[in-house]
Amino acid sequence: MKGIILAGGAGSRLYPMSLVASKQLQPVYDKPMVYYPLTTLLEAGIREIAVISTPHDLPRFRQLLGDGKRLGIHFTYIEQARPEGIAQAFLLAESFIGNEPVALILGDNIFYGATGFNETIRDFTSGATVFGYSVRDPERYGVIALDTKGKVVDIIEKPKTFVSPYAVPGFYVYDDSVVARTRKLQPSPRGELEITDLNKSYLADGHLQVHLVPRGVAWLDAGTSSSLHDASAFIQAIEKRQSIKVGCPEEAAYRRGFISDDEFAALIAALPHCEYRAYLEETLNKPF
Ligand code: G1P
Repeated sequence: MKGIILAGGAGSRLYPMSLVASKQLQPVYDKPMVYYPLTTLLEAGIREIAVISTPHDLPRFRQLLGDGKRLGIHFTYIEQARPEGIAQAFLLAESFIGNEPVALILGDNIFYGATGFNETIRDFTSGATVFGYSVRDPERYGVIALDTKGKVVDIIEKPKTFVSPYAVPGFYVYDDSVVARTRKLQPSPRGELEITDLNKSYLADGHLQVHLVPRGVAWLDAGTSSSLHDASAFIQAIEKRQSIKVGCPEEAAYRRGFISDDEFAALIAALPHCEYRAYLEETLNKPF
């Protein structure tokens, strides 16, 4: 399974902080935002990852993440010259995807807890899998419509009237028909190739699986100053209480066995002396 992190957009809702760094490079408590979706992919066992961003921001992602070797993975960097929708990622990443299934995660989506993503990726064979997460403000998202038996009958992008509380989070898994399906999409009134239209194409063919995310999972988006602050406070609360780090790609790569003890030790040795390094040292000495 290939992975894509989509980290585009102007980040205008974060102005003036977006002048300093793109949204997905802003700090969420103690690390850059993109570390969280990256860790989600690593924890699910994905090692071939394309990072898609604007021509302006892509060099900064490359600077931060490098080629991936130190994590035992491989990064590919792809420019999105114009923000023409989430689904555009599949056209841009066509040669990267090849004939494999692919998981796409949005660079500002933060997940914590037993999401079920790992099982989905492990067991995935064909079609598409998306998730449904109960929120208080579904009108901001793609929303799942269910019939009385709980069967998914539609997905509606930013519905004006109440459909259900189940928003579709920014983590999607597709088979290799994704590029051909995306090619058939028409831009929406906002001029974008909508991920919701792509999901509806799978639904129409009976190839869409929807998993409702259980209670106890946190899904945060961090696209405004206020939600960014909330996300930081949430991560701080967990990390202080549990003495673990959330969204630590080095730890995920090590625990997944992408790098050996020696490689992990070498990675740590290259870091400055700081709290982050001390945490990784603890992880190496207490690997459970
Ligand atoms: C996008 C999708 C929407 C999805 C959301 C998740 O919304 O269009 O279906 O629920 O991401 O974060 P947008 O960021 O374009 O408002």
